[in-house]
Amino acid sequence: MSFLDFLSKPAKPILGLDISSSAVKLIELSKSADGYKVEAYRVMPLPSNTVVEKNIADIPALAETLERVVSLSGTKLTDTAVAVSGSSVITKEIELPAGLTDLQMEMQIEVEADQYIPYPMEEVAFDFDVVGPAESNEGLVTVLLAACRQENVEHRRQALEMAGLNPKVVDVEGFAIERAYRLMANQFNQLEQSDNQVVAIADIGATTFTFTVLVDGKTIYSREQSFGGKQLTEEIQRRYGLSWEEAGEAKRKGGLPEDYEAEVLQPFLESLIQHISRSLQFFYSSSNYSEIDQLFLAGGVSALEGLVAQVEESLGLPTAVANLLANMEVSSSINASSLSNDGPAMMLAVGLALRSFD
Ligand SMILES: Nc1ncnc2c1ncn2[C@@H]1O[C@H](COP(=O)(O)OP(=O)(O)OP(=O)(O)O)[C@@H](O)[C@H]1O
Ligand SMILES: [Mg+2]
Repeated sequence: MSFLDFLSKPAKPILGLDISSSAVKLIELSKSADGYKVEAYRVMPLPSNTVVEKNIADIPALAETLERVVSLSGTKLTDTAVAVSGSSVITKEIELPAGLTDLQMEMQIEVEADQYIPYPMEEVAFDFDVVGPAESNEGLVTVLLAACRQENVEHRRQALEMAGLNPKVVDVEGFAIERAYRLMANQFNQLEQSDNQVVAIADIGATTFTFTVLVDGKTIYSREQSFGGKQLTEEIQRRYGLSWEEAGEAKRKGGLPEDYEAEVLQPFLESLIQHISRSLQFFYSSSNYSEIDQLFLAGGVSALEGLVAQVEESLGLPTAVANLLANMEVSSSINASSLSNDGPAMMLAVGLALRSFD
């Protein structure tokens, strides 16, 4: 397996697999005449406590769910790309002498690693790629270095292998988001056509809120916070005495008592908008920017009815749900309506699957 082999392009199509806190999401894409085609896809919830705060706590339970996802999706591929989260990875641009071989670079990084990586070297997995000549000095090259704890990679590899998958690439979530963004920009012509477009993506999942800002498709800011749809599900459970499954279902399909909108949903929406608003403020205060051109919402929570309009009104920003699958051709074996529901939650998986088409 190539760990964080971030700039290489696998020769064959590869499965995009998002192992999130609440689910596993699998997608297989192929290139079609005017874009991409969804060949296979599946989402399946994970038993609770399988993944805890981005760490895989129960490898056999994950492997079992993976095996079922693969078999239900009908994919024939086994080469797979997964990601480690932005907060568990350190990426840095460093400068090294030009003309070193890969092995020499690796040795030099290992020697100097304590400058860059705050973990003991024997616990670290790292990878690097030469980006290009360094601006400061002709004799140097700029090297992108990424490192994380070995166990983050190792646990994923073990679970995938137990499920009969071939862990081909371990990527960084932020890089997958950048790739996914290129597709979004395609759907929004004005983003493609004008320079210096500042775009924010708020991915609101079950437990994590990931806020990313890109300028011309390059990430310049990224923060993760603990916030997500799980809080809404728990509140529904508590207030109406429902099971976890019932509460999750009711959230999507409706049928809750009359006071739900005003007493439960609205406070959650307000808290969500406040998270976005604060993230924007943090971004403005830590950068030279004071506005953004477009806000995208992704993640399962972005499917909440009325959210886009309310965000747009509160924040005064052009806002849209990032549904990368909405314009893709879809294999006839796929249930199109469940695909369109799951679309916004598939951003990361799509970004990983796109890896082989870069
Ligand atoms: N139609 C919907 N309406 C409201 N909430 C929804 C809808 N569909 C999914 N959700 C909620 O979205 C959340 C799951 O979103 P998502 O799949 O993006 O999270 P995740 O990637 O599994 O989690 P994380 O990224 O936090 O690890 C759940 O809380 C789920 O109940
Ligand atoms: Mg997620």
